Amino acid sequence: MEIRVFDTAEQVGQAAAVLLAAQLLRKPDSVLGLATGSSPIPTYTCLIDLNRRGVVDFSQVTTFNLDEYVGIPESHECSYHRFMNEQLFSHVNIRREAIHVPDGNAPNLEESAAAYDEAIRKAGGIDVQLLGIGRNGHIGFNEPSTQFIYGCHVVSLSDSTIDANKRFFASEADVPRQAVSLGIGSIMNARQVLLIATGSDKADAVRRAIREDVNPQIQASILRTHPDAVFLLDRAAAAQL
Ligand code: F6R
Repeated sequence: MEIRVFDTAEQVGQAAAVLLAAQLLRKPDSVLGLATGSSPIPTYTCLIDLNRRGVVDFSQVTTFNLDEYVGIPESHECSYHRFMNEQLFSHVNIRREAIHVPDGNAPNLEESAAAYDEAIRKAGGIDVQLLGIGRNGHIGFNEPSTQFIYGCHVVSLSDSTIDANKRFFASEADVPRQAVSLGIGSIMNARQVLLIATGSDKADAVRRAIREDVNPQIQASILRTHPDAVFLLDRAAAAQL
């Protein structure tokens, strides 16, 4: 595992965007695993700019998002479908049919989750997986647990995650209690993993992920066993290392 520390969140975003741009130059039909939340926004801003300037081409790219809430429509202002459209997809030359986000409204969520893993496999697997990290060390919505769950699955969100994400909703009561998330196996199968952590409220999770034994109470710790995982941190997130 490699750790790179930058002064600001913007610099972290630029570094992640440069790594993704290099990936797309090497392999224009790359499969990218994408994240939502605050952490990747500077990366997406930078990628949009590189796309506008003709440096990065999304025309052959396929994407799979990490997760989606259960039970809110795609058009909901907090849905991850909508987030991705607003923060990236509607600004770049990606093909609509190449975009995949887990379906949080499928009649059979577990079947739909299994089909999502199968679609990733059929696409050739994820080349680069972009991740944020929760204050509780989650990646995707893989919450602290006694085990690492392999495949895409339905998750009950922890109190810590509901508390962290209520800022996007009208009230805490409006935060969905469940989500569909890629599993740890799906994430670990990516050829490269880029984890972005910025801000002081991530410092404890970053320290635990890097310093504690690999264990499912801090799900990001598993990334230390990945052959090509890069942690991109700003100074505040790296402060406890
Ligand atoms: C988002 C995701 C989550 C977030 C994490 C950090 O798709 O899977 O693991 O990356 O909760 O969220 P932010 O970046 O908002 O602090």
